[in-house]
Amino acid sequence: MSLSVIWSHLKEKGAARTISIMANRIFDCHFDFKYKTDTINRISLQDLTVAGANKERGSFYQPTMALSFNRLLKAIPLPPESVLVDFGCGKGRVLLLAVLGGMKKAVGIEFSPQLCRIAESNINIVEKAIGARLEITVIEGDVTDYEIEDDQNVFFFFNPFDDVILEAVVENMKKSLQRKPREVAIVYYNPVHSHIMAQHFLLKNRYIIGGEEYVLYSAC
Ligand SMILES: C[S@@+](CC[C@H](N)C(=O)[O-])C[C@H]1O[C@@H](n2cnc3c(N)ncnc32)[C@H](O)[C@@H]1O
Repeated sequence: MSLSVIWSHLKEKGAARTISIMANRIFDCHFDFKYKTDTINRISLQDLTVAGANKERGSFYQPTMALSFNRLLKAIPLPPESVLVDFGCGKGRVLLLAVLGGMKKAVGIEFSPQLCRIAESNINIVEKAIGARLEITVIEGDVTDYEIEDDQNVFFFFNPFDDVILEAVVENMKKSLQRKPREVAIVYYNPVHSHIMAQHFLLKNRYIIGGEEYVLYSAC
């Protein structure tokens, strides 16, 4: 973590949360160390080839912290037979943590072909390490083109894109819920555009885990 990032965390989040974030980032190397995967390094979208008009609206690749995510899974009430969708799945860390943590399936949508290949390789590495196939699918494409399936009920966002793209995905979630009403958990990590979620979904809880903020919504 660079000094400028630490300084901006200190200003925005205060000393206690900043120390907690730094401690979590240090422990975070453990996931890649354990499985020999490649999920950790942050990559700017400028360094990636992305087709389509939405590159400018996307956030750079940065993984969710494994320790915090595992604690979050224990803290939130999850719908039965959980099938997670990670909108902007990057190198696939959340997909792996979700399925290793007991979810039935995980699907990741990612518009960078390079990140998709790394995610697929990470999944293969973990499958070999544990000697079992994992129910994980990586879909190369833009989230705005993705049609949500009826069995998907946990929607995860790590501040992946701007308000315009989030609005489009929220519309897709609402269409899916109208077609097939069901219990869902919507998790928004680093909720920069939380006002959009709050307009359409019910705010259930706010969690500070490892110094980071996660907001949980359900269908109204
Ligand atoms: C902050 S990273 C989160 C990675 C992963 N979800 C995690 O939590 O470990 C955001 C990711 O969203 C992807 N992304 C941004 N806009 C997208 C879009 N319109 N369609 C698909 N992927 C997108 C980026 O390429 C990046 O990998």
